[in-house]
Formats: sequence, C-alpha cells, structure tokens
Amino acid sequence: MESRQSYFDKKQERFQEVCQRMLAERRLIVASNRGPVDYSLTPDGSLRGQRGGGGLVVALSSCSRFIPLTWVATAVSEGDRRLAEEAGGRIRAPLPEQEIYLRFVVVPRSVYHRFYSVFCNPLLWFIQHYMWNTPRTPSLGRAVYEAWEQGYVRVNQAFARAVAEEAGEDGRTPFIFLHDYHLYLAPAEIRQLLPDAPILHFTHIPWPGPRYWSILPEFMRREIHEKICAADIVSFQTMRDVRDFLVCCEEFLKGASVDHRACTVTHDDWLTRVTYYPISIDAAGLSRFAGSREVQRYEESLSMLRREITIVRVDRAEPSKNIIRGFRAYDNLLERYPGLHRHVVLLAFLVPSRAEVSLYRTYTRDLLELAEAINGKYGDDEWRPIHVFYEDNYAQAIAAMRLYDILLVNPIIDGMNLVAKEGPLVNTRDGVLVLSEMAGAHEQLGEYALSICPTDLEGTVRALYAAITMPAEEKRRRAAALRRAIQEEDITFWMQRQFRDLMAVSRRRQ
Ligand code: G6P
Repeated sequence: MESRQSYFDKKQERFQEVCQRMLAERRLIVASNRGPVDYSLTPDGSLRGQRGGGGLVVALSSCSRFIPLTWVATAVSEGDRRLAEEAGGRIRAPLPEQEIYLRFVVVPRSVYHRFYSVFCNPLLWFIQHYMWNTPRTPSLGRAVYEAWEQGYVRVNQAFARAVAEEAGEDGRTPFIFLHDYHLYLAPAEIRQLLPDAPILHFTHIPWPGPRYWSILPEFMRREIHEKICAADIVSFQTMRDVRDFLVCCEEFLKGASVDHRACTVTHDDWLTRVTYYPISIDAAGLSRFAGSREVQRYEESLSMLRREITIVRVDRAEPSKNIIRGFRAYDNLLERYPGLHRHVVLLAFLVPSRAEVSLYRTYTRDLLELAEAINGKYGDDEWRPIHVFYEDNYAQAIAAMRLYDILLVNPIIDGMNLVAKEGPLVNTRDGVLVLSEMAGAHEQLGEYALSICPTDLEGTVRALYAAITMPAEEKRRRAAALRRAIQEEDITFWMQRQFRDLMAVSRRRQ
C-alpha cells in the first residue's frame, strides 16, 4: 500500500502543476477582511505578528504554501494600522515557507466600527446563522442604515480600489479571489475598475433562504445579491447553500433568469455560475505540525487532565457554536449516569472572539458561569468535570485533538467547521466524532460520525453515551473512514477545483 507520505507528495505535485499553469496565465490576488497575520502593539511599543484566527485564515494561509499571493485585508488592530502607516503599500508577511504579500486597506476607525461591529457581525452573521430571536430582535434603526452607507458600502469600495491598485502592478489583470460576508458588494465595485478580471467570490458561512433574508430591508438584500452576481463564480460550502442562493436571486433580482439545473443566474446580461467547493484543511501540513515538539509538549501537559473518557471541543467563543447547549448536554449526561463520574472529563478550548459585540461578551460570560456551576455540582478535590481554556492557542488545541475519545462539534449552523476535519485527522485514539447535521462538514463526514440535531439536548446526551459505549472495532472503522475522507478532499482539492474553474473563465475571456 502507498505510504501516507508519498500519497501526500503526489497530491501536492499535481496541485503544484495546476498552480504553475495558473500563474503562467495571471497572478492571484486574495481579499478578505481578516488577513493572515494580526499585529499587536507590545507594552514596549514594538509590533508583534500573530497568526490571524478563524477558519478562513487557516485555510487560505495554507494556500500560500503552494502559490505566491497578494492578500488584501483590512487593518483591523491598532498594530495593523501602525504597520500600514509605517510600511505604506505592501509588506511581506512574516510567515515561514509562505510567500504572501500583505496589502492593508485602511479606513477611518468609525467606518470600520460601523462595518464590522454594527453591520457584518451583529447583523449579517446573525442572519446567516439563523440567530435572531425575531419576536424581539433585530430592530433596524438609523444606526443600521448608517452602518450600511457609511460602513459596509464604503469598506467594499475601499477594497475594490486596493485590489485595482494591486492589479495594476503588472500588465495582466490578475485572478481575484474574494472571501466572505464582509465583501458581498466588492465584485461589482471591482468589475467597474477591472472589467476583464476573472472574479470568484467564496462565502464561508451558510446562505439562508429568501424568507430569512427578508430580515434585511429590500434595498439592502437586493444590492447584496445584485453586486455579488458581478463575479464570474459565486461559490459556497455546500449544495444546500447553492440551492438557497438561487432561490434568493429568483426572488430578489427582478428580471433575472435563474437556471436551477445548470446553477447559473443571468442578470443585466451577465452570467454568473453558482457552485460549491467544500473547504478543508492542509492535511499534510497539519499532520507534520501535529507531530512537532511544540504540540508534543502540550500533549504531555494535557495528558495530566485526561480520564478514561476525554471529551474535547474546540471553538471560537461564538454563540452559533452552541457551546452552552453542549455543556448542558454534558450536565445531563453526568446526572443520568453517575457511574461516569470521575471517569470522564470535558476539555473545552475556546478562542476569544468579537468582544466588541455585546452579545458575544454575555454569551461568553454565561458559558463560563455554566461550566463553573457544573464543576460545583459534581466536582470535588479529585475531579473537575470541565476545564475551560479561554485563549488563542492553536498548538494546544491540536494537542487536545490528538487525545480525545469524543470530539463534540454541535454548532446550531456552520458554513463548514474545520475542527470536524482537523480532529479526526490528528487524533490518535480512534475517537468518535459527534457532529451537528447543521455543520457544512456533515455533508462529507456525516456518514462516519454520530449525527445530532443541534437543539436536541436529549439526542446529544444519547449520542455522547453511544460514543462512550461504542465497541472498539466500530470506533476504529469510523475513525479510519473519517481520516480517509479528510485526506482525499483536503485543501488542495478545494483550491484545485476553484483554480481550474477560474482558468476556464479566463480562457473564455481571452
Ligand atoms: C469565520 C468567518 C471568517 C472570520 C472568522 C473569524 O470563520 O467565516 O470570515 O474571519 O470567522 O472571525 P473574525 O470576526 O475574528 O474575523
């Protein structure tokens, strides 16, 4: 049988060939709100660069192992702003083995606040994750209108200008690869400045159906659909998202013709292809990192906390990740099966996120209180049922994923969820994946996981118990199947399909 290493090597060679062909045609410009490195100011006033957080950055950063790219991103932190001011134009990102030229988009702080903390995260993110409690929220007042005009529209225009300036660096218009809900208007803005550019927009998060989108006023939702359709390819994580997007275009874009079979939208004489590319992880790179000394050290310290059954979860501290319900399910499990006390432990790794948004702060406070309450209810000097690690420490999270017996991934809804892919790849104990059917990853991995409906507390308790009592042979079979599926459709698969489709657009245009 082919060794794991040569399997990865061949895969990478094939992908590298595609990258070479692509680069021979045009350069690649990537744009997203958050860039690959967050710069912070240290107390002595110097700058410290740290890997940016979230699935988007993890996935895209690994692209640059294979292909040099220019990455246009907003100056988010004070450190980013300082650097952008000092360095002017673009800088080379300080990431080993990666050729990334980082170009900051700098907008006034008040504009960024309206964009990020009023429009994108509280409003768009909540719509796209079905998180509103509609009898009470949201109420779209003047602040939201201002956030649209003075925040969202302006930042999208600023991105378009920055992309066009970068594109002017050499003679050929580059491929433009735009990301996520921060940049729905950018395709049309860029199209005006660079009419020939092959543009692909990829949305990392779910796309709801038209009724839920109607939480947004008509002119906003129409403009979002109209402007994103100026891309050549509009893409999502799953086929479900594609279907919902097509129905939305049919409802919101007057005069558009939507072909549900071919998955295309024609509007104002422009044909947009709508498709899906399930995002994944850099399987070869992550396997190497999981074996590194740094990860090993964390594994040693975490193994002190292990019990016969170690349940792990890894999330941004984020309401859509359903952390509170996950803790409640664990509470119910301990209540129902006292025999498990002292034999089980839950390790929760939560990365601080979006503290600017008050709902995130209260959610995090509530989940930390609940963890303490559960520890108070069952724990003693010998045993602490839940350990919460509230920090951004990727190596530690990977170490924890190596040693879980159960990985709980129960989001209310999630575009993909890369933890569901990272965990089974690095795990060494034939651990069981308990996976929400509302995570995009469920389309690829559901067959080998224990599926749960995320609001179904009882179902989650039962799934956890089924995982605890699962025969070793079945665990082995499922874990191996998960690993295989993840290795086959890894990040190179995600990129390769998109690059090929972009090249096809480019050839048609020549
Ligand atoms: C998700 C989104 C990304 C976002 C990330 C982190 O993965 O799809 O676009 O960057 O969360 O969120 P943040 O607001 O910190 O950038």
